[in-house]
Amino acid sequence: MRSLLRDRFSRPLDPRAADYSSSVEEDQSLLVPDLVGSLAHLRMLWREGLIPDGDARKLHEGLTALYRRALEGRVKLDPALEDVHMNVEVALTSRAGPRAGARLHTGRSRNDQVATDLLLYLRESSWAVETAAWRLVRTLLRQARGPAGRTTVLGRTHFQEAQRVHLGQVLLVHAHRFARDAQRAEALRRSLRHSPLGSAALAGSSLPLDRGSTARWLGFSGPNPNSMDAVSDRDPSAEALFLAALVGVHASSLAEEIVLWSTPELRQVRLDDPFVTTSSLMPHKRNPDLAELARAEAGPLLGLLVAHLTVQKGLPLAYNRDLQALKPLLREGIRRTIRLLDLMEGMLATARFLPPGEGSPSPPATLTWSVEAVDALVRAGSPFREAHRQMAAFVKSLEGQDLPRDPRSWDRLLEERFPALAATGFRVPRPEEEPDLRRTMGGSHWSWVRRDARNLQAQAGAAARRIRRERLAWERKVRFLLEPLPPRSGRGALPAEKR
Ligand code: ARG
Repeated sequence: MRSLLRDRFSRPLDPRAADYSSSVEEDQSLLVPDLVGSLAHLRMLWREGLIPDGDARKLHEGLTALYRRALEGRVKLDPALEDVHMNVEVALTSRAGPRAGARLHTGRSRNDQVATDLLLYLRESSWAVETAAWRLVRTLLRQARGPAGRTTVLGRTHFQEAQRVHLGQVLLVHAHRFARDAQRAEALRRSLRHSPLGSAALAGSSLPLDRGSTARWLGFSGPNPNSMDAVSDRDPSAEALFLAALVGVHASSLAEEIVLWSTPELRQVRLDDPFVTTSSLMPHKRNPDLAELARAEAGPLLGLLVAHLTVQKGLPLAYNRDLQALKPLLREGIRRTIRLLDLMEGMLATARFLPPGEGSPSPPATLTWSVEAVDALVRAGSPFREAHRQMAAFVKSLEGQDLPRDPRSWDRLLEERFPALAATGFRVPRPEEEPDLRRTMGGSHWSWVRRDARNLQAQAGAAARRIRRERLAWERKVRFLLEPLPPRSGRGALPAEKR
């Protein structure tokens, strides 16, 4: 087979060149897509009468057997055979015989073949990423809707104390981020709708290839309308790596919060033993190493995206071998993203959020209600800037003093300073009362948090059902391609395909 592709040369490839150009390692994930794509191409060639019936049946049998062995992980790719496509062709030829084996590549190039494989691989990967992201969302929701969600925590801006909120609202922020990532994975599948198969090397074919049928059999909405675009487009792969990088960024933010929350100063969360490590020297240590590794993951994921875009830029049309260098980046990005989402899910599912005061210093006295005091003055008719200025002066006068903890002591201080405030009936809230003072849509009042959680839960459920439907529809298509070719009913007349 090697000699087949070297016939126009007088000498074999230099061993260094062979080693450098082999893509077998990253092609392992393209093996199943390559076999399915080949089954579709074969069926089309057979229907168009481009392959004799007997040879087509031998090829179909061989591809089906290879497909089943590949699913069991029993097909090993030989690096000497350059890539997955040549590996499949060689393995198939040894099963179906040299005459039949030599026919499958009719009207096809490895350029449209690899482009098709990549889209099929991306479709499968987008389901996997979407599923993992929704799983993490559901776990965050479970914590947010449980008792932990109702506890009051200090909401921060600039990492300084700002206003008290429900922990549920905080957890839901992270849930929203990963839900949007899941939706990005779904949106990615819209970029996978055009089949490259039948574009051949770049310009299509002089053989009567039926691109519409192969596109439909492979779950595409139709053939790519431009054969040169079809073989050179790697945008979906870049989109997948952007999604991966964003998942990394989102996970790094959640991981950072977990690291902070598990410090003795904050003690808002206790990670479960299976997700913490200790020190080789300091026996008391309980380290959030896994959260730290998750925080680091944004680095490599961003790097993969930048590397991908940099390889893509400035390429002339149409296919260039540079495109091969994108495949390991994509594969690594997908692998890292799914592992990261799974790790975060496990860590969050088993984490215990601690109510304020449990084993920790009671939260410091704060002035987080000062905005509500200003709002009360506004209600009494004071212009906002004026009320804000007065409250700021009051806060300044307290500098250096120990702040009282008891809300009633605050009430007395405020009464002296702001007679108008007393008339409004404003009372300084206890910390746990504070979030419910803010009733604006989407604000910290528990009813909004609960509604937000309920909506997200419904979205997660609908998404899981949709993914299941999509996967089943795809499995049906693959089963059809695996079915033996039907008997030819008379010369030229072919039975109608199954949908
Ligand atoms: N291994 C190649 C890739 O991944 C397949 C296409 C090779 N095409 C070519 N003209 N050399 O891109």
